[in-house]
Amino acid sequence: MSAVVVIGTQWGDEGKGKIVDYLAEQADVIVRYQGGNNAGHTVVVNGSEFKLHLLPSGILYKGKTCVVGNGVVIDPAVMIKEMNGMEEKGIDTAGLRVSNRAHVIMPYHRLLDEVEEISRADQKIGTTKRGIGPCYMDKNARSGIRMVDLLDEEEFCAKLKRNLEAKNHLLKAVYGTNGFDFESMKQEYLAYADKLRPYVVDTSAVLNESMKAGQKILFEGAQATQLDLDHGTYPYVTSSHPIAGGACIGAGVGPTKISKVIGVVKAYTTRVGEGPFPTELLDATGDLIREEGHEYGTTTGRPRRCGWLDAVVVRYAGYVSGLDYMAITRLDILDKLPTLKLCVAYKYKGEIINEFPASLKVLDQVEPVYEEMPGWQEPTSHIRSYEELPLNARRYLERLSAVADIAIGIVSVGPGREQTIILHDMF
Ligand code: GDP
Ligand code: IMO
Ligand code: MG
Repeated sequence: MSAVVVIGTQWGDEGKGKIVDYLAEQADVIVRYQGGNNAGHTVVVNGSEFKLHLLPSGILYKGKTCVVGNGVVIDPAVMIKEMNGMEEKGIDTAGLRVSNRAHVIMPYHRLLDEVEEISRADQKIGTTKRGIGPCYMDKNARSGIRMVDLLDEEEFCAKLKRNLEAKNHLLKAVYGTNGFDFESMKQEYLAYADKLRPYVVDTSAVLNESMKAGQKILFEGAQATQLDLDHGTYPYVTSSHPIAGGACIGAGVGPTKISKVIGVVKAYTTRVGEGPFPTELLDATGDLIREEGHEYGTTTGRPRRCGWLDAVVVRYAGYVSGLDYMAITRLDILDKLPTLKLCVAYKYKGEIINEFPASLKVLDQVEPVYEEMPGWQEPTSHIRSYEELPLNARRYLERLSAVADIAIGIVSVGPGREQTIILHDMF
C-alpha cells in the first residue's frame, strides 16, 4: 500500500496537473479531494494539451480508477461537459467514481459568487466566479445539497425548495437581482442526476478497499497552500483545504495511510486574483516572465501576476503539509534571465522575519530579503538528468532546498511527460 499526496506550495498553477499526470502512470487510483472547477490543470501528452477542471488528471490513462472525493464541490453540468469532451477525444471515463457525499454547485451559487464579488467593491477577492465559495458556505451552514440528495428525487425537491426560498429572498432583497424558478431548475438537475448516477458511490469505501488490496493511490491537490482557508492569505483564499491534511478529510482516508507528500513549486511565483504577494514584480522582468511562461489563467484567462521565487512561502508550505519532497517545475522559463533573485526572509520595520505573517497589514509592508544569483542563460528543456543541468541552475535549486528545508524530488523542464527529471522514487 502506498498513498502519495501532491499539493501546490504557492498560489496555484504550479504545474500540479503535469506532476500528477507523470506520477499517475505508477498509480492505480487518482483522487481529487477539494476545490471544484475553479482549478485548471493542464496536461500535455504527446504534444496534445488537455485542460482538466474537475476530473482527476489520471483520467488520461486507460484502466485507472479516478475518484472525485467528498471534499470536492461538483458543478454537474461542468462534470458532464468534461466527461463528454474526454469521450470525444477517445478517452474512456468508465473508471470515474464520484462521492455520494460531495456537495453540488447550484446556479444560485454561481450568481451569488458574482454579486458578492461586486458588493465587495475594492475588497474583492478575484474569485473564479464558479460558485465555489457560496457552495462551501452552504456545506458549512449545513444546508447544502449532496450528490446522494440529488439522486433521490423526493429529497432533492425538498432541499431545493427550502434553499431556493432562502436564496431567492437574499438575491432579491440584498442584491436586487431576479431569483430562480423551482420547476426549471428541478428538471435541469434531475437530468444531470440521471447522467451521473452510474458513477456515484461511497468513494471512501472504494479507496480504503483498494488500499487494503495493496493498490497505489495518488491524491491530486487543487489550488495551493497560500489559498488554503486556514493557512493561506485569508481572506484572499479559496474556501477549501488544499494542504495535505485536506486529502484525509476530502477523501475519507486516515492520516496513517499517507506515505508521502510532495509539494509542487514553480521556479518563480505567480498569483491570479487579488491579495498580498510580497515578491511580485510590477516591472519589465515581471512582464518578461509572464510572456516567456505564457502566464494566463487556465480557467479564466486572466493574466497571472508574476514575481521572484519566495523561499519563505515554500518553507511554510513545507511544514504545514509535512512535505517530503519538492517537485520544482518550469525551470526552463527562467533560461534567458541574466540574474535571479531568491527571497530568503522578509524585513518588517527593520527587523528580519523568517515566518510567513498572518496579518495582511504586516504582509503589505514587508520587504523581501533577496539573494541575487547568476542565471544560466542556456536552454534546459532537453535535459533529462539532474547532473546535466547548468551549474547555476543547480545552485539556484539547491539554495531553495536549503532555505526551505525540503529535499528536491523532481525537476520539470517542460510541459511534456518526458521533460521530467526524477531524483527520488515517489511510490
Ligand atoms: P496546475 O493548476 O498546478 O496544474 O498548473 P496549470 O496547469 O494551471 O499551469 C501550469 C502550466 O505549466 C501548464 O500549462 C503546464 O502544461 C505547464 N508546465 C508544467 N510544468 C512545466 C515545465 O516544467 N515547463 C514548462 N515550460 N511548462 C510546464
Ligand atoms: P489550480 O488548481 C490559481 C484563486 C482565485 C481567487 C481565489 C478564490 O489550477 O492551481 P475561488 O473561485 O476559489 O473562490 O477563488 O483563489 N484560485 C486559483 N488560483 N489556481 C487555482 O487552481 C485557483 N483556484 C482558485 O483566482 O484569487
Ligand atoms: Mg491551474
